[in-house]
Amino acid sequence: MLRIAHISDTHITGGEAYKSYAYDLIVNEINRGSFDFVIHTGDITNQGLREEYERASYELKKIQKPLIVLPGNHDVRNVGYELFEELIGPRNGVFEFKDGVVIWVDSTIPDLSDGRIGGRKFRWLKERLEEHSDRRFKIVAAHHHLVPLPNTGRERNVLFNAGDVLDLLIRHDVALYTCGHKHVPNVYRVEDLIVDNAGCTSCRKTRRGDVNSYNIITLHDDGRIGVKIRRVTGDEARKEHRPIRPKIFVPSGRRLLRIVQMSESNVSDRIYFRRRVLENAIRMINHLKPDLVVHNGDVVDMGIERYYEKAIGFYRRVKGRKLVVPGHNDITYLGHDLFTEYFGEPREVEMGNFLVIPVVSAQYETPIGVVGRMGQKKLAEKLKENEDKFKIVVLHHNIVPIPRSRELGFLEDGGDVLHVLTKGGADLVLTGHGGNAFGVKVEDTPIVNAGSVSWELHRNPFGNSFNVIDIYRDMIVVFEVQATWGSGRLLGIWKVKRP
Ligand SMILES: [Fe+2]
Ligand SMILES: [Fe+2]
Repeated sequence: MLRIAHISDTHITGGEAYKSYAYDLIVNEINRGSFDFVIHTGDITNQGLREEYERASYELKKIQKPLIVLPGNHDVRNVGYELFEELIGPRNGVFEFKDGVVIWVDSTIPDLSDGRIGGRKFRWLKERLEEHSDRRFKIVAAHHHLVPLPNTGRERNVLFNAGDVLDLLIRHDVALYTCGHKHVPNVYRVEDLIVDNAGCTSCRKTRRGDVNSYNIITLHDDGRIGVKIRRVTGDEARKEHRPIRPKIFVPSGRRLLRIVQMSESNVSDRIYFRRRVLENAIRMINHLKPDLVVHNGDVVDMGIERYYEKAIGFYRRVKGRKLVVPGHNDITYLGHDLFTEYFGEPREVEMGNFLVIPVVSAQYETPIGVVGRMGQKKLAEKLKENEDKFKIVVLHHNIVPIPRSRELGFLEDGGDVLHVLTKGGADLVLTGHGGNAFGVKVEDTPIVNAGSVSWELHRNPFGNSFNVIDIYRDMIVVFEVQATWGSGRLLGIWKVKRP
């Protein structure tokens, strides 16, 4: 067994942002406790100034355990990254321990609050992960959060390439990603990866009236990972994860439901719209005989009558039950009215024990989405009312970052929406923004994004595609089908409770 104390966002400064008594309380607790080492995930100072760094270096020396420290966005303000190296240590590095390794990465961008593990650093991280691939516990530490967090207000300052990083970590069997930054303690499981956010250890700026805290990570010999959020008030919240292995399952019984999921057809006159690819996809979709076809939005490239007329022509050729939610392109110009005129208000679809819930997240004239506080409340109620049903939520915007997309059209309340979905027991979530197919399970909720079915400007190395989602008694299997060639690849396979 190995125990790690995870502190973050100490914001050490002479001013009032810093609560020295909270810092001392937590550090004393850590020194008294049985910890193998300590990780500080950044924002050690408040403005990256010399006097702050000098004090921080003094304060950090109070920690009587091996310590890993990396910079946060506050530390690199005012060219503080040079002082970091001078007074604290290297900004990137590798720390090895029995059974595992911690790779820490500087995710900051000078003078911005946003984060990035871009270009060379991404390659460096990938190489380190390959080099240590035999290690049982691979831990990556950085300052910025990877998955939207609840109770942080507007979702922002995530890593610009969070989707790529998430994909990299999952592919390399990383056990734990530790970070800070949002001053909200939280633990999510994304596939087999634990995403551990520390709250703030000694900054006054806690959210939602919370108090200072730190996280205690326990790596058990049998592979289990426990994370405990420990607040200065003594309150504790703990979570434990047992890794899912083996990862290949075989579904049992007959198929209960088949959904075809497509997105971003972007019907238009523009050369980027691939009419023949869409026609081909529709032929394949009809051949697959799905119980429901879901279109996750951006049916047209722009909200004009001519495009809607064209789109409905294609859409009528799709046989069977259909559900469309609008994307941001659909409601540009007069699209707001045209969408309802042509496709109708998105309505719930009930099929036996399956309930499909559409959520409109598109906003007028901006790629940024929102569900809104009222929308979140309604969704939470809907999930609760239908506790015993198999609930599938359909919306346009991404709630987990998608590889290769740069979070341009993010969901501004993504953190709270993800919380509503995972806590409310949504059994499957379908999204369709970002132009790339991707699927991950967050907590117990698989989240599947569709790539673009017929728009040339996508980000999917597999090309234009749609997803086929087969639901069995104990399992969801998702295949991505290439819209031109019809070849398929497995996007995800997840155990589910019981449809
Ligand atoms: Fe911070
Ligand atoms: Fe930060």
